[in-house]
Amino acid sequence: METVSTTIPNPLTIPEQKTFIDSIIERNRNKPGATMVVCTELQNEIGYLSAPLQEYVASEMNVPLSSIRGVVTFYSFFTAAPRGKHSIKFCLGTACYVGGADQLIEKAEQVLGIKIGETTSDGAITIEACRCVGACSQAPVITIDEELFGKLSASKMPKLLKKYQD
Ligand code: FES
Repeated sequence: METVSTTIPNPLTIPEQKTFIDSIIERNRNKPGATMVVCTELQNEIGYLSAPLQEYVASEMNVPLSSIRGVVTFYSFFTAAPRGKHSIKFCLGTACYVGGADQLIEKAEQVLGIKIGETTSDGAITIEACRCVGACSQAPVITIDEELFGKLSASKMPKLLKKYQD
């Protein structure tokens, strides 16, 4: 899921980060599942895989760009831009969807003035969708950073979000 509301820095233009990126690629180049391993390390260490970085990894590892894009787009662990200080994820698994996840998202978008997948302009909050987080009995569920909030309703959202806006 992409976060696009602020200018995305390019780590390849920062010599220190470029050296670091090259070392990650070099170290993992010949491992089984190398693409996934490299993407995971870059996400952990750099914090995001921007479009230029995806292109660089594809070219350095001699794999199609579409396979890198596929990984970054499919798994919610990855992001193409830095996440905000707080990461809010809305579960869109069946139980949460049926329980009204779309209304929670709509309210959050309205309160924060951004769309799902975006980061507030002050860099405080990123909102994203995710798959089932395994707490279906508490649907609808969201996670904020490492914490889980269940049995939510749209009317509870503004107060909850307020805590993370300041
Ligand atoms: S469907 Fe949302 S926690 Fe399982």
